[in-house]
Amino acid sequence: MTAINAATIDHDAVLARYGAEVPRYTSYPTAPHFAADSAGSLAAELQGGLDPQMPASVYLHIPFCDRLCWFCGCHTKQTRRYDPVAAYVGSLVLEIAAFRRSLGFAPRLGALHLGGGSPSFLTGEDLARISEALHEAFDFVSGAEISVEIDPSDVTAETLAGLRQLEMTRASIGVQDFDPAVQAAINRPQSFEQTRDVIAELRSSGLVSVNVDVLYGLPLQTPERLDATVDQVIALQPERVALFGYAHVPHARKHQTMIREEDLPCRKARLADAERASSSFRLAGYEAIGIDHFARHGDPLAKAARSGGLHRNFQGYTADPHETLIGFGASAISSFPGGYIQNTVPTGLYRDQVDRGEVPAARGYRLTLDDRIRGAMIERLMCDFAIGFDDLTARFGLAAAPYVRDAQRLAASDTHGMTRISGRRFVIKPEARSLTRVVASWFDAHLFSAEARYSKAV
Ligand SMILES: C[S@@+](CC[C@H](N)C(=O)[O-])C[C@H]1O[C@@H](n2cnc3c(N)ncnc32)[C@H](O)[C@@H]1O
Ligand code: SF4
Repeated sequence: MTAINAATIDHDAVLARYGAEVPRYTSYPTAPHFAADSAGSLAAELQGGLDPQMPASVYLHIPFCDRLCWFCGCHTKQTRRYDPVAAYVGSLVLEIAAFRRSLGFAPRLGALHLGGGSPSFLTGEDLARISEALHEAFDFVSGAEISVEIDPSDVTAETLAGLRQLEMTRASIGVQDFDPAVQAAINRPQSFEQTRDVIAELRSSGLVSVNVDVLYGLPLQTPERLDATVDQVIALQPERVALFGYAHVPHARKHQTMIREEDLPCRKARLADAERASSSFRLAGYEAIGIDHFARHGDPLAKAARSGGLHRNFQGYTADPHETLIGFGASAISSFPGGYIQNTVPTGLYRDQVDRGEVPAARGYRLTLDDRIRGAMIERLMCDFAIGFDDLTARFGLAAAPYVRDAQRLAASDTHGMTRISGRRFVIKPEARSLTRVVASWFDAHLFSAEARYSKAV
């Protein structure tokens, strides 16, 4: 990959002109544009269109943690008692069974992801209940990838046994930062040794691949502290790394007010940190994937990125080619070729609905042709930093023509020099890749149509 040299782009001018806060584009349109009316009937219609032959991905959301990290932007809550978690798993299992009954056939499952919250907080018994429910409802494709988000401080021998029973193939381990001062400022104590030992246990129990999450932009995070964390992460030899910029959105996540704004690095420091961490991972042999991931050359994510097969979904980047993602659990989002459905977010309300036999669909969105074309353009920008006009035309036919002209016009009027037309492609220049979300937002027809607030672009 070409070295990033962001110095040639005037970030202040770009952000002043296009807005400093833009979506992360894990979907298009983004979740704030989903609407509450007739979500239930839309869910039935979208599920009714499922093709029994086509494998789908499945996402399960576990909205519980045994401690609340102050930086956390996920849908989760802290619980000191386990009984609400066990009761939630009961509802989750009911939702899965009801979905299967309503379809009338067992759909093929090509990939499974357990996220949260902290799925590693589940007991072995509850992991087994979930596994059993999924195997009853779905026809697992042989070699299906099964990934689980893991907080190392949760992992016990019992968790490991449960994960083995689930036949997990990839663990996604939250690290964030190993420095004790940073950890104190985000309420996340976690030693390098503890993390290293959990990874060793997971690998020895037959797991094939490890992802580690690292954050920059955290309170009290100096360049030296982040560099030390990056070195320690490299020493853990994960197959993949996700390097996220801390999204500080205290208006949406009240517990983030525990983080003192004066402790946060400024935008210039964030950018420099991201670039330094990125070059350390690349020097250590990782390939840069999209805006914030890294993977070993032989990892499926790196292979997908090289072959144009990288995708973006609610978990970030994926090599998962499936067009349909079925989400179970509170706040989980399902993605179908024709639209999106988000489940009820408050856990208690979600449980009441499922336990009464109702479909817990809270909000939805039916995609228009305009959405599908713009969504495809935004996904390619986020994955490849480029839109191939011939690919777009191959996919959407004549309908693509005005969008190609739009892209050509946008590149021609880009006074900040972030983009260019190269042959039959709209390309984000390497030095402007840190502003990819801003460029993607040029193609977003919904950007100003809802009272949504997003995280900082850089
Ligand atoms: C559900 S957590 C991962 C699993 C587990 N709960 C843990 O923390 O280890 C998902 C990841 O989202 C990222 N994340 C959470 N809050 C964030 C925020 N405000 N900004 C950026 N990334 C965030 C963190 O890197 C975290 O590891
Ligand atoms: S970062 Fe992970 S462990 Fe921490 S509160 Fe969020 S979901 Fe829970």
